[in-house]
Amino acid sequence: MRLFVVCVCALVFCRSAAAQAPGRFPPDSLVNVKVIPRTTPVIQVVGIMRNFAFGLGVRCPFCHVGEEGMPLEQFDFAKDEKRTKLVARQMMRMVEEINRRLDTLPHGSDHVHQNVEVTCATCHRGVSLPLPLFQLMIDAATAGRADSAIRLYRALRARYYGHDAYDFGEGSLNTAAFRLGRAKRFDDAFALLRLNEDLFPGSTGMSVFRGNIQLMKGDTAAAAAEFREAIRRDSTNVEARGRLRGIGRAP
Ligand code: HEC
Ligand code: HEC
Repeated sequence: MRLFVVCVCALVFCRSAAAQAPGRFPPDSLVNVKVIPRTTPVIQVVGIMRNFAFGLGVRCPFCHVGEEGMPLEQFDFAKDEKRTKLVARQMMRMVEEINRRLDTLPHGSDHVHQNVEVTCATCHRGVSLPLPLFQLMIDAATAGRADSAIRLYRALRARYYGHDAYDFGEGSLNTAAFRLGRAKRFDDAFALLRLNEDLFPGSTGMSVFRGNIQLMKGDTAAAAAEFREAIRRDSTNVEARGRLRGIGRAP
């Protein structure tokens, strides 16, 4: 009996020693989890981690200490060294909170789906920084000029078109241009609209945007020309007609 107890102790000691030592993947046990319950099977944790990586379009070293291409046994998954891992832990708490609140929605309405669960991918959609495309365009044009925003747009489009990471519809560049116009960055705004015109030639809505930005700039004649162009592109464009009347010009 005494021998048996000693054996069990030795076994427990070995197991915990192995858990600390790097060199096993999946690890034998969890070391430094603060949100995931400690009793969660390790293999399930690895599944959660794959979902994180997929949801954010990144790989393990984005959050963990280790290099791309290195065997997973050599990673130090328990270490809290990278800012991104700390952010991710806060995000996990945030997602738990969101899902708790979703559970409190009054049911019985057509708009409330049962069993909807918010995950990392709900917001991230395959990118680590889940900002709308128009925001990235404004930031790039403000930090540099329209050229840098346009380079970024083309790079993102080449990489993400057909994925739901970014909205490459006409609206994104229109919105970015409008906000840049409000910040009095007119050249940058028009440059983004020129790119948009290449991508969506003949859009009536875009002519209205151009007209509105001409108005912000104080060029009423150029604005009127844009609103007339919008009507030429689509005679039913009531917004363009309203704008023309608003600035005292007949459609
Ligand atoms: C977006 C950031 C992020 C990515 C990407 C990520 N992880 Fe994690 N990982 C975390 C966080 C945060 C924790 C700690 C969770 C907690 O505190 O409950 C963690 C914990 C772990 C643990 C448990 C470590 C311990 O303390 O015992 C393992 C193992 C792990 N990750 C493996 C992986 C693997 C393998 C990948 C790639 C497929 C990966 N992770 C990708 C954020 C990430
Ligand atoms: C409700 C929307 C939402 C959900 C759900 C969400 N995130 Fe985020 N996440 C954001 C936003 C917004 C940012 C940008 C925050 C900032 O930089 O100010 C962000 C940033 C991050 C970053 C930092 C990226 C960087 O490059 O700095 C990490 C890592 C991250 N999230 C991980 C996760 C993980 C893991 C999950 C799932 C457990 C998750 N997020 C779920 C909205 C979300």
